[in-house]
Amino acid sequence: MTGKRVLVAYGSKHGATAGIAAEIGRTLREDGLDAVVLPADDVDDVRSFDAVVLGGSLYAGRWSGKARHCAERNQNYLRHRPVWLFSSGPVDSSAERHEIPPVPAVAEQMERLGAREHVTFGGSLTASTPGLLAKALVRHGKGGDFRNPERIRTWAHHISSELAEAA
Ligand SMILES: Cc1cc2nc3c(=O)[nH]c(=O)nc-3n(C[C@H](O)[C@H](O)[C@H](O)COP(=O)(O)O)c2cc1C
Repeated sequence: MTGKRVLVAYGSKHGATAGIAAEIGRTLREDGLDAVVLPADDVDDVRSFDAVVLGGSLYAGRWSGKARHCAERNQNYLRHRPVWLFSSGPVDSSAERHEIPPVPAVAEQMERLGAREHVTFGGSLTASTPGLLAKALVRHGKGGDFRNPERIRTWAHHISSELAEAA
């Protein structure tokens, strides 16, 4: 048990990324960390956290504005903490088959914050996702839930072990 406080913040439009953040938070808690999961919009001050995991969904090749703004608002404090970033996107198995590099805005945040790592997880687009484009994509067989809980949990355990090593 390290008892470190970890913030898991997410920028999500329709809940898929929120689900990934919840899984990360659960896993970190199983590992003995004090993990809090919050929407990125609600994060005003990261000073009470020892480490931060920040994720956002991808739309038209861009990272969630909510996640990006959170990174920008808190950059002075994030720079002095271990930070991990993630993206949730591909609605196919590509994220499972090979590493998908961060989109340019995320790569820029990695650099600015000195983030430890970035990972792209498969996303989710289902019949219940709002929006005409989403519905049309699903109708044409382009949808599905490609979030892989095992892969998400493995990454979260990896974060726990890095934090334990640093303790
Ligand atoms: C209109 C639209 C555009 C999308 N563009 C991308 C994209 O450029 N890259 C990507 O990997 N996924 C893309 N996706 C898939 C979403 O990123 C995926 O559904 C994600 O898990 C949604 O997360 P959220 O529910 O948290 O917003 C797109 C989905 C829609 C509906």
